[in-house]
Amino acid sequence: MLKDVASLIIKHTAPSRRHLTPELVLRLVTPSCPLWTAKEDQVPFKDPFWAFYWPGGQATARYILDNEEIIKNKRVLDIGCGCGAGSIAAAKMQAKRVVGNDIDLYAVIATKINSQLNNVAIETSTDNFIGAKCEEFDTILIGDMFYDEEFANILFEWLISLTASGFNRRPRSPRADKEEASAYHSVSEVSSTRRELHGKLWVHRDCAVET
Ligand SMILES: C[S@@+](CC[C@H](N)C(=O)[O-])C[C@H]1O[C@@H](n2cnc3c(N)ncnc32)[C@H](O)[C@@H]1O
Repeated sequence: MLKDVASLIIKHTAPSRRHLTPELVLRLVTPSCPLWTAKEDQVPFKDPFWAFYWPGGQATARYILDNEEIIKNKRVLDIGCGCGAGSIAAAKMQAKRVVGNDIDLYAVIATKINSQLNNVAIETSTDNFIGAKCEEFDTILIGDMFYDEEFANILFEWLISLTASGFNRRPRSPRADKEEASAYHSVSEVSSTRRELHGKLWVHRDCAVET
């Protein structure tokens, strides 16, 4: 069954570097794919979030690739990994361990396919980590998951609870602010308004950068 899903994903996607992290090649639904213009009843996937590389995820992965020190030797959990770009970026920046997590099985299979394309090893999981203590991780990546107000509130409540179990926040440094502004500037080229970013978030045990 998993092989069938992988074949289906490969059949309906194309390798792409046309995004903010061209160092990474990702199988996505691109304008060259028939699915791009298909009608809803012709799409063989239900809600294929993994088939697109969302602006918040692009900004997260770009930031990781530009700031190796925040991820090197860290144990990283990428919540809602979608196509897996955040996980792949973390693995490339020498994270000690990377788990790409998504409750959609298709997303973790897409993440596996994309990790192989980029020659990095990552683990995957379909567990629901929201609410978990995450003691086995140092860094949590959340790219483009604040698209729904109710879900965003649940996420923030959980993230705040994590500060009690060791995930600390500290004020952003001027450097982080500058880099973040530049990430947003780049993202604005593919997404015309900040509102469309759906938010991005990095949480570290010793540092947080948040929007
Ligand atoms: C908008 S996509 C973002 C994907 C990727 N991070 C990116 O930016 O390209 C949101 C993803 O979150 C996943 N998701 C939703 N609820 C989740 C949960 N409770 N735990 C893990 N993943 C979840 C969805 O299946 C989807 O793949």
